[in-house]
Parts: sequence; structure tokens; C-alpha cells
Amino acid sequence: MTTQIPKSLNCTLITLVLGAGVLMLMFIFLQHDSHNYCPPNPVQPLQEEIRKCLLESNGSSLSVAPPPQSEKPVLLLWFWPENYRFQFSDCKSLLNMEGCHLTDDRSVYPKADAVLIFHKAISWDLSNLPPSPRPPFQKWIWFHVESPTNTRRIPGLENLFNWTLSYRQDADISVRNRLTVKKSPGEEFVIPKKDKLVCWIVSNNNPSTGTGVRYKYYQELSKHIKVDLFGKVSGKFLRYEDYYSTIASCKFYLSFENSIHRDYITEKLNGPLAAGTVPVVLGPPRKNYEDFVPSDSFIHVDDFPNAQALANYLLQLDKDEEAYRKYFQWRNYLTAKPHLVLQQQEFILAICSACEHVGRHSEYKVAHEIYKWYFS
Ligand SMILES: *[C@@H]1O[C@H](CO)[C@@H](O)[C@H](O)[C@H]1NC(C)=O
Ligand SMILES: *[C@@H]1O[C@H](CO)[C@@H](O)[C@H](O)[C@H]1NC(C)=O
Repeated sequence: MTTQIPKSLNCTLITLVLGAGVLMLMFIFLQHDSHNYCPPNPVQPLQEEIRKCLLESNGSSLSVAPPPQSEKPVLLLWFWPENYRFQFSDCKSLLNMEGCHLTDDRSVYPKADAVLIFHKAISWDLSNLPPSPRPPFQKWIWFHVESPTNTRRIPGLENLFNWTLSYRQDADISVRNRLTVKKSPGEEFVIPKKDKLVCWIVSNNNPSTGTGVRYKYYQELSKHIKVDLFGKVSGKFLRYEDYYSTIASCKFYLSFENSIHRDYITEKLNGPLAAGTVPVVLGPPRKNYEDFVPSDSFIHVDDFPNAQALANYLLQLDKDEEAYRKYFQWRNYLTAKPHLVLQQQEFILAICSACEHVGRHSEYKVAHEIYKWYFS
């Protein structure tokens, strides 16, 4: 992030210098082979084109989007979450979302219709928030997708934001992978070939982050049924390209959330649904899962008095093909789409969803007490 300010300063300086010498530059451009230089595009303002060209030629083209073509509102991404950068054009190409003009160029701040602010990147003294004065028409979006257990309560964020972006169903921008209605219903789903019984991909088992509950449950469960472990804990690393095929090869998949909160149902559920596997979930109560997926699409650990009873049930299903098949009936009319699995892609859906929202909403709104809401 620290490199962005110098970069935009740099650009301002460059633009100033160029502003003075625009005529001369035009002359130079006309003299040069247009393939080696970025030629001025007659449709776009010359200075914008030069700025873009300079940034690109400096090897930092990754996040530079073209200037707005139309009247689309501008959404400024203030911090890159965890520094996982992607091309803004991915919103259209990967998710078919293009409701706004996305940029990370802080120099557009005075004009931006909305600013997307990643909670985890805000400094404790708030000194890295956008500067005053804040344009009166501008919406600030609080961007946070961690559960309350893993949330720092940075003070002073009350009455600062207009919209919230979170996994919560009652957020202004609610982000999650959703099932969709099948275009051609009735088409029979073919269950992928299975050569493992229960699988779990897990990277973090630090009890202090709330993962202790799920690890204890796994330990108990694995006394009664074989569980194939993948990820950091097991020493069996999984390549990203093997994520879906590995899950697909298991009859059951442990969709254990790292902490238990209302609506906190993550891609750990979407993975097995998209791969064609029956998720065994540990998280908020069954009722909450049923807000998002059919009741017969998953098995909830709370359906059983203990891990041993669950293990017995899974072993029984393993022998009863017909009973196992019942967990796939919903697939005749609904589909789970695979989510993006690269670490670098973790925030694409959230950022593109914010962009869609900004494109559709302009009503006045204030988010008063963020924590009171979030921790409720
Ligand atoms: C170009 O890159 C160099 C080093 O990577 C950096 O110091 C400089 O600020 C960059 N210039 C622009 C215009 O981004
Ligand atoms: C955005 O929210 C702030 C306070 O949270 C408020 O002062 C401002 O008027 C709001 N602006 C819009 C455009 O909704």
C-alpha cells in the first residue's frame, strides 16, 4: 500500500510536467512508431492515455483499468486486501459483473462515488483512511468477511460508513456463493466416482482462533471412521488444480467452519456441493444452513448426539447406495457453481459484488454502529 502514494504523487508530477509539454509530446508521438509508444487514443483524453501508458510501461499495469467509458459510477478500492491483486476486468470475465468502474488509483478519490475500505487494513489510529474533506456524495463501504471471532475492534468506526459488505445475510452487500436454479431441470446428476470415504482439507488448527472446536470434533470422529486429511496439518499439500477433483473423490467432506456464528457459512460448504460430494457441516444451527441450501443437501453434526453416532451413520450410508443417493436429489433442480480457489482470488467475488451494488444503488444511507450490529 505504501507504494501507492508515491506512485500517485509521481503521476501528479508527471502529469503536471506533461501538461506543460503536451504539445511537444504530441509532436514526439507523431514522430514515433506507434507500436513502440502508446499512441494517444482520440476518444480518450490525451493525459489519461499518457498516464496509463506510463504506468504500464513501468510494469505496474496489473491494477490499472481503463478510464470510465460511460456514466458508470466509480468505486475506489482503497486497500488491496492482503495484497492479493487481480485485474479488475476479471469481474466481467470471471463473474459477469460490471456494474461500476473499479479503480485503485487514489488520485480519483475526490470524484469517486464510493470507496471500498478493507477493515483488516485500517490502522488502529485510523491514519490510513481516506483524507478529509470527504466528498458529500461519496459512500464508504465497510469491507469485512471474517467472523466476529477473528475481528479486531478498531475504535472510531461508528458513523463513518454508509454500506456494509460481509457474509452476513443482513449486510447491505451480502457476499456468498449461492445455489442457482438449473436451466434444464430434470437432467439427472451423475455422482462422481468415489475412492475415499471422509475427507477434510484444513490449513489452520490454532485453537486460539476458534478452530479448537472443529479439531476436537475431528479427533473424536476419526476414532470411529477413516478421515483422509489434506493441507498444512497433514503434510499432504493439495495443489489448487486438484481441489475439486480431490473433494469429488470422497463420499463425504467435512465442511467445518473455524468459528461458529450466524450466517458464517463459507466456501467450505460450497466446495463439496460444487464437486458432487455430501458435506458434513459444523457451524451455526441446521436452520441457518437451510436459509441457503436445501435441508437434504448436507448432514449436520448437531443431528447426532456425538461423533460416534455420526460415524456410524456415515458408515451405514456407505453401504446403502439408495440412501446416499437421496443427498443428491436437490441437484435435479439446483446447481452449485465452483468458487474461485486461488489464494490470490480470495476477494474477487466480494470486490466485484461491491461494484455491482454501487452500480445499482445511490440512495442515502448511514451505517451507525458497525460493531453493535456485527457482534449481535
Ligand atoms: C516506476 O517503478 C519504480 C521502481 O519500481 C518506482 O520507484 C517508480 O515510482 C515507478 N514510477 C511510476 C510512475 O509508477
Ligand atoms: C454516508 O455516511 C456518513 C456517516 O456514516 C454520512 O455523514 C454521510 O452523509 C453519508 N453519505 C451518503 C451519501 O449516504
